[in-house]
Amino acid sequence: MIVTIDGPAGSGKSTVAQRLARRLGVAYLDTGAMYRAIALAALRQRIDLTDVEQLAALARNTQIRFEPGPAGQRVLVDGLDVSEAIRTMQVNETTPFVAKVPQVREALVLKQKQMGQHLGSLVAEGRDQGSVVFPQADVKFVLDGNVDKRAGRRYTELRAAGQDVSYDTVLSNLQQRDRGDQKHWLGLLTSGLAVHVDTTGMEIDEVVEYLYQAVVQRTGAGTIDRVQGK
Ligand code: DC
Repeated sequence: MIVTIDGPAGSGKSTVAQRLARRLGVAYLDTGAMYRAIALAALRQRIDLTDVEQLAALARNTQIRFEPGPAGQRVLVDGLDVSEAIRTMQVNETTPFVAKVPQVREALVLKQKQMGQHLGSLVAEGRDQGSVVFPQADVKFVLDGNVDKRAGRRYTELRAAGQDVSYDTVLSNLQQRDRGDQKHWLGLLTSGLAVHVDTTGMEIDEVVEYLYQAVVQRTGAGTIDRVQGK
């Protein structure tokens, strides 16, 4: 069973994807972490971010693995735990440059498809999962939400992480990102291929429950558990 989750920043995608995967008993594929891992490796190896060939070779030759850890999933790059190192402001800012290189995307899309084949069932989160990587997915979701609400969530997260940002900066940053990102999921929505979920008035628990029920309805997942009284 393959489920994909897409949508704008601040819609709660990562938390929801992780919890939905746990609830369904399948793996969670955090594809943003893979782009972040390549950005981190490029920074550490001092690769020129305009050197497309070097970035592409890095993406092809870097081994990225996910392992369960005490505080969620750990990300390993060539055997080294980078779970925290990929979440710094510097990596946040560098990743979009790396992610826009077509050859890097090609290399990571291939790795993601291979992971999908190997795992069989998974919840994959990221902007191209329902369209490019797993077009055959059983259920595709686009999580959305009012931009003020999303900015509020992002702002709270960043402040909690000790970052000195203003709400207005976060809001204008999200509005700008939305304009660039929309093309990725609008196609899925207009073609009716994805389930659109507006998370504006919903708590995370409610969103996870809603998605879980939608997956069960569409795939029959959980039926065996119910029959066995679990
Ligand atoms: O979801 P995130 O913040 O961890 O994503 C990090 C960056 O990678 C962000 O710039 C979006 C990009 N990304 C991408 O281009 N394709 C994906 N499948 C996932 C993330």
